[in-house]
Amino acid sequence: MPILPDANEDFNDKLTFWVNGKRHVVQNPDPAMTLNEWLRSQRGLTGTKVMCREGGCGCCVVMVTHSDLTNGGPCSYSLNSCLCPLCSVDGWSITTVEGLGGQKGGFHPIQRRLADFNGSQCGYCSPGMVVNMYGLLNKKPQPSQQEVENHFDGHICRCTGYRPILDAMKSFAVDADPGKGGCIDIEDLNKHPCPSAGESCNGASANGNGVNGTSTSPLRCCQRGVTWYRPTTLAELYGLLERHSQDRYKLVCGNTATGVYKNDGPYSCLIDIKSVPDLYNCQTGPPLVVGSAVSLSAVVDLLRAGSDRSPSYSVLADHLCKVANVSVRNVGSWAGNLMIKHAHPEFPSDVFTIMEAAGAKVTIGFRGESQTMAISDFWGTTMNGKVIHSLEIPPGNPEDVFRTYKVAPRSQNAHAYVNAGFRMTLDRQSEVKVVTKPHIVFGGINKTMVHASATEDFLVGKRITDAETLRGALTALQAELVPDESALQSAQYTKQLAMGLFYKFYLSAVGKEGLTEQVCSAADSLTRPVSRGEQHFQTKESEWPVRQPMPKTSSRVQASGEAIYINDMPATSGEVYAAFVTSTVANCKLGNMDFSHAMEIPGAVAYLTAADVKGENNYNLPPSPVAEIFSSNEVSFAGQPVALVIADTQVHADAMAKAVQVTYTDIKTPILTIQDAITAESFHPIVKEVVKGDPKGALAAAPHRVSGEVSCGSQYHFYMETQVCRCTPTEDGMDVQSATQSMDSVQASVAQATGMSAHRVYVSVKRVGGAFGGKAAASKLPAAACAVAAQNLNRTVRLSMCLDANMAAMSKRAPYLVKYEVGFDDEGRLLAVVYNLYEDNGCSVNTCFLPILPFTAENVYYCPNWELTGQTCKTHTAPTTYTRAPGFVAVHFCMEHIIEHVAKTLNKDPTDIRRINMFENGQTILSGDTLSDCNIAQLCDDLLTSAKIKQRQQEIEVFNKEHRWKKRGLSVVPLRYAIFTSFFRFTVFVAIYHTDGSVVITHGGIEMGQGVDTKVMQVAAASLGVPMEMIHTMSTNTLSSPNSTDSGGSVTSDLNCKGVLECCRRLNERINPIRQEMGGAPKWTELINTCHSKGVDLSEKYMEHHPLPGLRPTYNSFGVTCTEVELDVLTGEREVTRSDILFDCGESVNPDLDIGQVEGAFVFGLGYWLTEKCVYDKETGRLLTNGTWEYKPPATKDIPADLRVTLLPNSSNPYSVMRSKAVSEPPLLMSCSALFALRQAIQSAREDSDNGADFFPLNGPATVETCHQACLLDSSNFTL
Ligand SMILES: Cc1cc2nc3c(=O)[nH]c(=O)nc-3n(C[C@H](O)[C@H](O)[C@H](O)COP(=O)(O)OP(=O)(O)OC[C@H]3O[C@@H](n4cnc5c(N)ncnc54)[C@H](O)[C@@H]3O)c2cc1C
Ligand code: FES
Ligand code: FES
Repeated sequence: MPILPDANEDFNDKLTFWVNGKRHVVQNPDPAMTLNEWLRSQRGLTGTKVMCREGGCGCCVVMVTHSDLTNGGPCSYSLNSCLCPLCSVDGWSITTVEGLGGQKGGFHPIQRRLADFNGSQCGYCSPGMVVNMYGLLNKKPQPSQQEVENHFDGHICRCTGYRPILDAMKSFAVDADPGKGGCIDIEDLNKHPCPSAGESCNGASANGNGVNGTSTSPLRCCQRGVTWYRPTTLAELYGLLERHSQDRYKLVCGNTATGVYKNDGPYSCLIDIKSVPDLYNCQTGPPLVVGSAVSLSAVVDLLRAGSDRSPSYSVLADHLCKVANVSVRNVGSWAGNLMIKHAHPEFPSDVFTIMEAAGAKVTIGFRGESQTMAISDFWGTTMNGKVIHSLEIPPGNPEDVFRTYKVAPRSQNAHAYVNAGFRMTLDRQSEVKVVTKPHIVFGGINKTMVHASATEDFLVGKRITDAETLRGALTALQAELVPDESALQSAQYTKQLAMGLFYKFYLSAVGKEGLTEQVCSAADSLTRPVSRGEQHFQTKESEWPVRQPMPKTSSRVQASGEAIYINDMPATSGEVYAAFVTSTVANCKLGNMDFSHAMEIPGAVAYLTAADVKGENNYNLPPSPVAEIFSSNEVSFAGQPVALVIADTQVHADAMAKAVQVTYTDIKTPILTIQDAITAESFHPIVKEVVKGDPKGALAAAPHRVSGEVSCGSQYHFYMETQVCRCTPTEDGMDVQSATQSMDSVQASVAQATGMSAHRVYVSVKRVGGAFGGKAAASKLPAAACAVAAQNLNRTVRLSMCLDANMAAMSKRAPYLVKYEVGFDDEGRLLAVVYNLYEDNGCSVNTCFLPILPFTAENVYYCPNWELTGQTCKTHTAPTTYTRAPGFVAVHFCMEHIIEHVAKTLNKDPTDIRRINMFENGQTILSGDTLSDCNIAQLCDDLLTSAKIKQRQQEIEVFNKEHRWKKRGLSVVPLRYAIFTSFFRFTVFVAIYHTDGSVVITHGGIEMGQGVDTKVMQVAAASLGVPMEMIHTMSTNTLSSPNSTDSGGSVTSDLNCKGVLECCRRLNERINPIRQEMGGAPKWTELINTCHSKGVDLSEKYMEHHPLPGLRPTYNSFGVTCTEVELDVLTGEREVTRSDILFDCGESVNPDLDIGQVEGAFVFGLGYWLTEKCVYDKETGRLLTNGTWEYKPPATKDIPADLRVTLLPNSSNPYSVMRSKAVSEPPLLMSCSALFALRQAIQSAREDSDNGADFFPLNGPATVETCHQACLLDSSNFTL
């Protein structure tokens, strides 16, 4: 038995590590503290952001360097600081974004390029992107473009649509156009600003990221009843296991499993195994042997290095690159992965599946003895007191066919729906016979299935080129696949997918020469080239800096992490942190709330309920219905706040929230869908009806009639900065710093909740980390709750919502359902539309989009007879809210769906049907307004030519005929978007300082990534005739910009530019006479100084308000998009291969920013239509997709592989003062072109199985599962 050193005497309790070259010693840290929390809260290094705390978003990435226990050399890599325990960094050097560069010592080339390529909008994701790239260049200074793209598999950017980020990063690639920047030499890469002087120096030599030493002494830290041990020998490890095997202990390697299973534990003892050299023992073999502490990334490297010894090793390496993301793989171990599967049998572990298929064996140690077993046997073994030592991966036989598969809801960083590994040894000399029992291994089927044993048995000795063998194997497989049903994935899909994967493997085993041409391609996976983009626009240099393409003025400080978001603000003395306690059940009454456990949590300060609200327990404002801040009795939806808990740190507050015990009474089954609401007749009392012409008569008389229904779901905004608010009680009342799009309503809501007058509530906003409508009406709730807490406790309170609470509690996009009947002629001309629309507003109508239906429902199509009825459904979900292009996106989609239905009925090209129905100027829309600015037909024709659409359609037709299991589709979707400006008011203030002539602006808009600050600066610079550098924008606030409305509706930039223009005009009116007195061209500083001395008022304010009679759009935006996709019919996977977007932006004020908005909106929409799905538990109403594990906004490889954006040339807009057109929302609508392109591809697949006659709706989101199921696959069609 190993001897355990005395824990108290021989174990050190001090961590020593370096951050950006500076040494830190931390004595006895809290084992629960993450590196992220320490960097942000203890060192003020807030450039490293935090959002999901799940390894799912990448904003927290830092680079670490330490010595590599496999070879003793240094190793550097990026990791997610949110998952990294502080205790594990002893001896490491950590580089954060601040360590790379900044305003003081100069920006790092990566920071500069990201900013200059326009890759930073709200900026919240930018530091993580920069450090991730730095990690790659440290590992490989001259990567290829492909390697760069592969390296960004774990980062979400919700704003940009990724193209400019990838362009910036790929500019460092060895195969990139050197004109874009070129590779960086290693000296420049590591030239960091000296932390003390702020000047440039070589960071490595100053301990910036070199190896500073490896801690070899055992470590023990103990706080709050949890002990962290770091043994440094196997003997110490066994000693600790022996001592603690009866405790709630956990071995810790990369600690990334906490990103998946967040609620495991609690543990009293954590044993860090990363410093045990024996667990790094590797042998190149064959067989390849890998120690258990070796990271997944290192396993990939070892497998690649050994690939000449076994082709299987390449297959395994390729598959492991699909596990999690780079930063998780850099620290996450294969052993940790297997142990997740051990603890959670439902976990679709890729490592388990593929290693079992490869015949790998695992060696497990217990009290110094070891035992080797098959992975499937390990699964059933008790692991208490044991440690995994190593994995032995056999090379397999040269005659083996070995393939692995993973099909996931998103292209990257997503768990498998189903994964599989197949190995078959074939005798090709004789009759392609299966020599021995093959390995047919599946993951994701159910909690127990590993091998498809009956199928394996059946295949032994069979000739695989015989059709009967395939049939028999499929029959056996069909019988033994018994998938678990789940709310997140249907058993039918799971089963058919598994069958499809087996079929793919079977075909690849037969080989192309044994197959018909049609099925040949089934075996291959979809391939994606390195993505590319083109951007085309015009600019008038004569008007610069207005219309000048330039990145946001703050983009470099965003990329360097110096841009401050509310949660980055240093805490003031006595500041405390709050978290919502949210209900776990919908449609019930609140029972009892027991806070006793929560108040025992270290750092607990207080809790508040509805009874503590001093003003009105209502965050909504009249005339909206009452929406309680904390439920006082009725609980409408799961996720609804019922209380607020307050602690000394955010982590403690979040822990308190989970510890509150809440009971519920009177629980009834929740209504969660529109269908349920219709059945239960659960409606809000808002209805919209519009009739034009004689729809019923025209329908009856129409030569053709079709009817149907189509729906689209909800969407979570996924702003990277969750809802956050910070309230400080002051002598005057309350200072509120809120990440809101709507200062005005936050001010009113806080006043109402606290009982103060509005003039005592001062709200300010510098910037928000993404908003997309979700921080307009919805940010009132956290602001009101935070203010109530600050008022009660009389101290500063910060409420920064954790992701799961944010997703559950906050309002999202409204789902829709439309039932329609349409009449049309032989050509496909619309004659009558009768249309019932249902909008799901959740439990209360906070926002409703029925009133704008008459402006939006028709999109670009004229029909003389319409009947439209809109109803609002009441469900037990959070009240819905504005979400980028709210209301528009769904009705636009429904109209496009109707066009597809008409086209299918007449067997015509949908593009032709679209084209012949398009509005012409002079025709009236449903609201009765006459269109006078309609250029859609021209836009459409231009795109048909420039994107060679007819030719590509023919090519697709040929491709689809030749391929049974891969299908392509193309769709052209036009857009009309009514822009409303009359709701909006923004107060702008411009001042010129007499001291140096510099200009400051505060405006009523919120800078949320769209670049409003930059645009107003461009306008001011041009109007006053001063360089951009002389102008600055300050935080907006309710004092200098009172009564400003929400930033939204795509008009914020335009209207604030108008305000600045007017302020500057008035200032010029006062300045110009002095200018003339001074000879007409004095120096600006002298001119301003003279103005001041002569008593000229050098500040001006103006409120832009653009009233129109009634609800009227000011103008329409138009655009058209063509998207092409490829679909793998057997799996439902797809690639968006190309999108061409032509958008009328009028005369763009800043084409760089506007193209950024077009691309960002388009990709936001791709998420809505293809991957983002909100799923609720049918019993409780709980949101099941409440984290990055299940909710999937687009990742870098979900964007079109080829994205071409053109801003319509020679355009203008007489209805806007800047002659530009709104851009932040409209292009989003055209992203449904991807869904319709998929519909075309699916149609072709259905035709191949004689299911093509009927029109079918493809509802949104068209997930991988939905697309697969829509193909109506039947395994009897699986042939050779
Ligand atoms: C964002 C994200 C995405 C992911 N995507 C995927 C995916 O697509 N496919 C997939 O298969 N997995 C996925 N994972 C899981 C990931 O692969 C694992 O989290 C990782 O491999 C675990 O390794 P670790 O070293 O961090 O384990 P830890 O978190 O340190 O430990 C996990 C468990 O293993 C135990 N353990 C660790 N090492 C040993 C040992 N040597 N002996 C005994 N017990 C040990 C620990 O006690 C603990 O119970 C994902 C994870 C994240 C965070
Ligand atoms: S916060 Fe760490 S990955 Fe999201
Ligand atoms: S710029 Fe990437 S999330 Fe906003």
